[in-house]
Amino acid sequence: MAKINESLFSVEGLDKRLAIKKFWKVMMTEYWIPKDINFLWAMGVVLAVTFKILIITGIFLMMYYKPDVNLAFDSVNYTIMQEVGYGWLFRHMHGVAASVIFLVIYIHMFTGIYYGSYKKGREMIWISGMLLFMTFSAAGFSGYMLPWGQMSYWAAAVITNLFAGGSLEAWGLVEWIRGGFAVNDATLTRFYMLHVFLLPLAILGIIVLHFYTLRIPHVNNQSSEEIDYDAEAEKYLEGHKKESKVIPFWPVFLSKDFAVLGVFLIFYFYLVFFNYNFAMDPVNFDPANSMVTPAHIYPEWYFLWSYETLRGPFFDILGMKAMDIGLIIFGFAQVAFLIVPFLDRDPDILPAHRRQKFQIWFWIMVLDMMVLTIYGKLPPTGANAWVGFGATLVFLALFISMPFITKSDAKKRGVL
Ligand code: HEM
Repeated sequence: MAKINESLFSVEGLDKRLAIKKFWKVMMTEYWIPKDINFLWAMGVVLAVTFKILIITGIFLMMYYKPDVNLAFDSVNYTIMQEVGYGWLFRHMHGVAASVIFLVIYIHMFTGIYYGSYKKGREMIWISGMLLFMTFSAAGFSGYMLPWGQMSYWAAAVITNLFAGGSLEAWGLVEWIRGGFAVNDATLTRFYMLHVFLLPLAILGIIVLHFYTLRIPHVNNQSSEEIDYDAEAEKYLEGHKKESKVIPFWPVFLSKDFAVLGVFLIFYFYLVFFNYNFAMDPVNFDPANSMVTPAHIYPEWYFLWSYETLRGPFFDILGMKAMDIGLIIFGFAQVAFLIVPFLDRDPDILPAHRRQKFQIWFWIMVLDMMVLTIYGKLPPTGANAWVGFGATLVFLALFISMPFITKSDAKKRGVL
């Protein structure tokens, strides 16, 4: 029993094949999980399964999709949707999975923030998770381009434009990314390569890293209690199951995970069969046309909050152009969550409801993200523009104030 969790990945004296066999044997027979975790801890497994759905349905779509500006739209909207048997099913399963995976990622991230699961030895779990968020975002963006509809084209034009850096006017970089002056066939082909090859490969590698970083610090739990796994497992094996703070990974913990996964899959297939349009934009059923700009351009729902931080500052401030201010805040929004482990100055791991000011910080952050998401889709005119500006300032203030708020909580508890 001794040091089971620490020795999980040790391979001394074993060749790789044996190490993998040992890994599965240990996972299935000797790996222990805190008892005190709820359905929110099943989100990781839900994500892993949704990612598998994306890979499998993506392989089927690849068999008929044509990465060519003259053929892409029809290959999706006619060939796959109308001619290939069950093509519509694979397209809807892929589109809906791409959308709900972000919903689950946000729940998984906010659970981590609520319970402080990014602290004290868990920083690398958090950083690898954020790398997953970034690579998934790139995969979502490149995938949105592939049907070559109006929104595919114009969202690609707007987002690639950002690399010009506002007043820096780094057009050379934009052209390099696009493979031409405007979004064109070369852009579609390279984003296709990224979407079907490089990004899924990178995601697979980072998922392995994410799981590897989970091994020593182990998962956190609802009360953030530090657990002596060996002693608690011994208790469990001696028959004192109720008193023990841990449960075996197999079959007890996995059955909990599978129950949550079952509920998720019901929700997912309900969307696939009855509400698939929520993952599709009606404007994208018009073929891409570089001569007609849609009245209103916006990205997928999961990018709206950061898109709104870009549009938030809509007037020049102290001689700085609105566009440049927006770009700086947008840049900050991309790394704000990544640096959370370093912004949080409270040395204790505690759930938010046991950290007075941080709890308020957390719920304002969730609310602000919702406001940014809602207003990111509305035209930025009149009152909308001011709400967007206000919500952008709140976002900035939240992350700038985080070190002070967390420090103040720790001082009140007398640990600083
Ligand atoms: C496809 C993407 C991802 C997969 C497959 C995945 C998978 C997992 C799994 C299986 C766990 C262990 C159980 C659990 O808490 O759910 C976990 C834990 C964790 N993940 Fe992820 N994850 C992904 C993305 C992310 C993202 C975007 C973040 C945010 C930065 C993140 C942060 C964390 C943290 C902090 C933990 C530790 C939770 C704890 O100790 O209680 N993960 N992940």
